Amino acid sequence: MQGSVRDRGIGIFDSGVGGLTVLKEIRKLLPGEDLFYLGDTARVPYGNRSRDTIIKYSVQNTGFLIEQGIKLLVVACNTSSSVALQTLRHRFTDLPIIGVIEPGSEQAVRNTASRRIGVIGTRATVTSESYRTAINRFDKDIKVFQQACPLFVPFVEEGMHTSALARGMAEHYLAPLKRHGIDTVILGCTHYPALSPVIKKVMGSKVRLINSGQAVAAKAYEYLFSHDLLKNTGDTSHRPPAPGDMRFFVTDDPLQFKRIGRLLLSLDIDSNIHKVVLEDHEYA
Ligand code: DGL
Repeated sequence: MQGSVRDRGIGIFDSGVGGLTVLKEIRKLLPGEDLFYLGDTARVPYGNRSRDTIIKYSVQNTGFLIEQGIKLLVVACNTSSSVALQTLRHRFTDLPIIGVIEPGSEQAVRNTASRRIGVIGTRATVTSESYRTAINRFDKDIKVFQQACPLFVPFVEEGMHTSALARGMAEHYLAPLKRHGIDTVILGCTHYPALSPVIKKVMGSKVRLINSGQAVAAKAYEYLFSHDLLKNTGDTSHRPPAPGDMRFFVTDDPLQFKRIGRLLLSLDIDSNIHKVVLEDHEYA
């Protein structure tokens, strides 16, 4: 019984390509695990939508990934993690679920010397106050300054994250944050690591950018290890595990996803992408 659970994959979802920045870190740390990635590309962006809609989409995404046979879910979307995580944990009680807010906050709290942290994210993430709550749970005296950057996501989805326009947009959004003497900025949207070079240029080299992907991957590893759910643990040969499968699901035309996915992952993912319809399914 336990053996069969070990052989299941890790489900990962985001509204689009952003969660690939998290998948990349999970792949590095857990190369032998099968990864099932769902990018809800027909409905991206989530960040400007209502709570109810974000929750509905997140429930559908989770239900779909459960059908693929998973032992762990990583919500690789800050917007869903901010708004829908509690609902998902209530609805899918048997499924261990890791979000991105806590791991990123913990990393930022550990990094800050000035005790002033900036958070950039979608409107829904900023409005939810999820980061402020998580950071102040670790340390109530840390000051948190937030900025919504709604145009960042379409830029990444279009593959325009290194353009001169992206630089201008970053200058516009980040100007208010630069006045607060922060030394740490949380990239509070999984699309934003793609914009790191541009954001770094604007914020300056003294400000550390936190990409929660690594911390999330570490949490996934810890969970699987401590519950004896790592795949291939029966293999005593000490050889590195055979690479796990990676399967990608999208809800719109895979073409753009392939192009940007290749850029973000430096991997050819073409043959493993499947288009799926989520609205037809009714989940618990
Ligand atoms: N990448 C997502 C996040 O981390 C979603 C962005 C969006 O769809 O607006 O928030």
